[in-house]
Amino acid sequence: MTSFPSSTIEIPDSSRVPRHVAVIMDGNGRWAKQRYLPRVAGHKRGVESVRTLVRACAERGVAFLTLFAFSSENWRRPAEEVSFLLQLFAVALEQEVGRLHENGIRFRVIGDIAAFDARLVRLIRDAEALTAGNSRLTLTVAANYGGRWDMMQAVARMLAERPALAAGFSEHDLTPYLSLNYAPEPDLFIRTGGEQRVSNFLLWQLAYAELYFTDTLWPDFDAACLDRAIVSYQQRERRFGRTSEQLPAGAGLAMLRFEGPGVE
Ligand code: IPE
Ligand code: IPE
Ligand code: MG
Repeated sequence: MTSFPSSTIEIPDSSRVPRHVAVIMDGNGRWAKQRYLPRVAGHKRGVESVRTLVRACAERGVAFLTLFAFSSENWRRPAEEVSFLLQLFAVALEQEVGRLHENGIRFRVIGDIAAFDARLVRLIRDAEALTAGNSRLTLTVAANYGGRWDMMQAVARMLAERPALAAGFSEHDLTPYLSLNYAPEPDLFIRTGGEQRVSNFLLWQLAYAELYFTDTLWPDFDAACLDRAIVSYQQRERRFGRTSEQLPAGAGLAMLRFEGPGVE
């Protein structure tokens, strides 16, 4: 079922442009506060940044983009903010799905969406069905998602289907049940807003991702910011446990293959 190797079992391909970019879109509230606006104004503005990033990733040949929109811990926020965020998700989906489809983008949601109201669940399922055949870029939105939830649901589903594995199982047995089973592991992880933490995002899948943190607040994140993150990624040596000397000639420093979008 899983078509991509695990970074802890095989050395994955690393390409010049990251194949999979995962983003914690943080800083909407602070962006609004700086402008004496309500927090939700920052969330609204953040949708613009999503639009910009999806376009920029498609243009740069990124194949998978995964965005953290609502964590399993975000229910702890004031009820009005939670309901605004879910409403905003529904509105954005309704408005954008046609455009995503026209641009060849496959849309997926990961997370425990059973907690959402029936209308939002239907919008999500319809958008996924409409865009299922697209292949230019897979846009995944993590909604009511938590890395721990993901691992727990994967173990639970695996054991329900294959009870004999209770005696012992391998990564190969488990990974098909993780919610991002259709994507390679992220190459590049970006967090905006200045915090340097993972906040229960893709705990399993980030095993060997290159981490990039920026103080830029999410509503200010644009294509040039993405290019800076990609340039930083291209300067990393991805060793996956090996020594520099063991890397194939020219494969060590991505710098050597540097012709990134940042120097267009
Ligand atoms: C990220 O921005 C959006 C979500 C978590 C939904 P925040 O709302 O966390 O913004 P800050 O961190 O308070 O500035
Ligand atoms: C992480 O941001 C979740 C999303 C961006 C959806 P938070 O703002 O909720 O993270 P913490 O609470 O500061 O770690
Ligand atoms: Mg935050």
